[in-house]
Amino acid sequence: MSRKMKNKVVENLTIERIATEGKCVGHHEGKVVFVQGVAPGDVVDVRITRGKSSFMEGEAIKFHEFSKDRIDPFCSHFGTCGGCKWQHINYDLQKTYKRQQVVDQFTRIGKVEIPEVQPIIGSANTQYYRNKLDFTFSNNRWLTREEIDSGAEFERNALGFHIPKMFDKIVDIEHCYLQGNISNDVRNELRKFALSNALSFYDIRNQVGLLRNLIIRTTSTGESMVIVQFGGDNEAEIDLVMNFLHEKFPQITALLYIINLKKNETFNDLEVVTFAGKDYIEEEMEGLKFRIGPKSFYQTNSDQAYELYKVTREFAGLKGDEVVYDLYTGTGTIANFVAKQAKQVIGIEYVEAAIVDAKLNSKVNGLENTLFYAGDMKDMLNDEFIAAHDKPDVIITDPPRAGMHDDVVNMLLKLEAPKIVYVSCNPATQARDVALLSEKYSVDKIQPVDMFPQTYHVENVVLLTLKS
Ligand SMILES: C[S@@+](CC[C@H](N)C(=O)[O-])C[C@H]1O[C@@H](n2cnc3c(N)ncnc32)[C@H](O)[C@@H]1O
Repeated sequence: MSRKMKNKVVENLTIERIATEGKCVGHHEGKVVFVQGVAPGDVVDVRITRGKSSFMEGEAIKFHEFSKDRIDPFCSHFGTCGGCKWQHINYDLQKTYKRQQVVDQFTRIGKVEIPEVQPIIGSANTQYYRNKLDFTFSNNRWLTREEIDSGAEFERNALGFHIPKMFDKIVDIEHCYLQGNISNDVRNELRKFALSNALSFYDIRNQVGLLRNLIIRTTSTGESMVIVQFGGDNEAEIDLVMNFLHEKFPQITALLYIINLKKNETFNDLEVVTFAGKDYIEEEMEGLKFRIGPKSFYQTNSDQAYELYKVTREFAGLKGDEVVYDLYTGTGTIANFVAKQAKQVIGIEYVEAAIVDAKLNSKVNGLENTLFYAGDMKDMLNDEFIAAHDKPDVIITDPPRAGMHDDVVNMLLKLEAPKIVYVSCNPATQARDVALLSEKYSVDKIQPVDMFPQTYHVENVVLLTLKS
């Protein structure tokens, strides 16, 4: 960006609408200007931080008018913590914008013919709806401008969330409105205990420190899993921490820890030690039990996961004699959810531990018509696999945010299943994949579901039907 452009201030910019990733847009001298943290209807001065020939990006530095759709954010961490970027917009409007995002992605990226996008299915709970949160310990707490300006000395250890785009800065969380149950108490009590016992908080730059990460998972059945990741292997200190949690929170049903001396926080390849209780928690849906292990994915809004699965099942339109492939099956939740309505369901998933859970989930629920396989989708779903199994009548696919690998899309085109139900947490990559699939499929139904109130994220289910 030219020096002239950088730090340029665009005055009195009217914010017109929401674009992708929660950014809003206005127009200035024929160029689109993307701005974070504003709402349609705001009139602001914007300092430009990035400029290209066709667009600019910037931050609002002065508000002249506030949008009538703004509401007061309820969280004291709003604006610093990157978690709930839309708390300043009322929920009805959040839903409208989310649905609009789906329309935009399919018309701009997908460029495919689509039916009317259904009104989004909203979340009954707009706070305390998450069943999983990851908190990070750090010896580098984020200080506010006022704290820095005060010149005072502050506690620098923190337990909370990453500041957006800053890998080494953590905002210390006092209360998080995303997860209920014991979540806030466990985090705050553990931090207090660590500080009063002078236990070291992780130093990510130098990769040292005992306390590294805290994961809390809860279920609607009242169970909870707490996992502490340690960045050191001092047995006495680890025992001290785990005994504290065990005694203070006897209601934790799965108390686990991991010693992680690696550079990153992922622990799929590490041993998870059960300190007390079980090594899994159990969620329930329509009388079905779902076992969730520490390494397994489970949709983070349990109530809305049920809504999402009902839409998926309805789109699949099963009569009882179909072979269903459930791609990216996780712990086999969708596979097991639809199994009673199908002849056979075959689930494929990358994480081996999740496949172990998926099989267990079938067993626990007395389902005998499911098969599960672990492996990378692009390698698993090949001619040999298809030859060894029945061809699918319905394919349900629920890939991660990046969408499906080209090889997987090509395989779906080759398989020509009469129906594909595509579930996605990223309509942009979904629209891209659907555009490729449109060579043989038409888009028959689109149903957005809101799993993540207060954020710009949206889940979307698409029914694709093989063209005749
Ligand atoms: C959005 S989750 C869907 C999980 C499941 N359908 C559910 O509703 O619980 C995506 C899943 O894809 C898995 N995954 C990611 N990349 C994969 C790959 N290349 N091959 C197979 N599975 C993959 C992840 O481990 C995760 O369980």
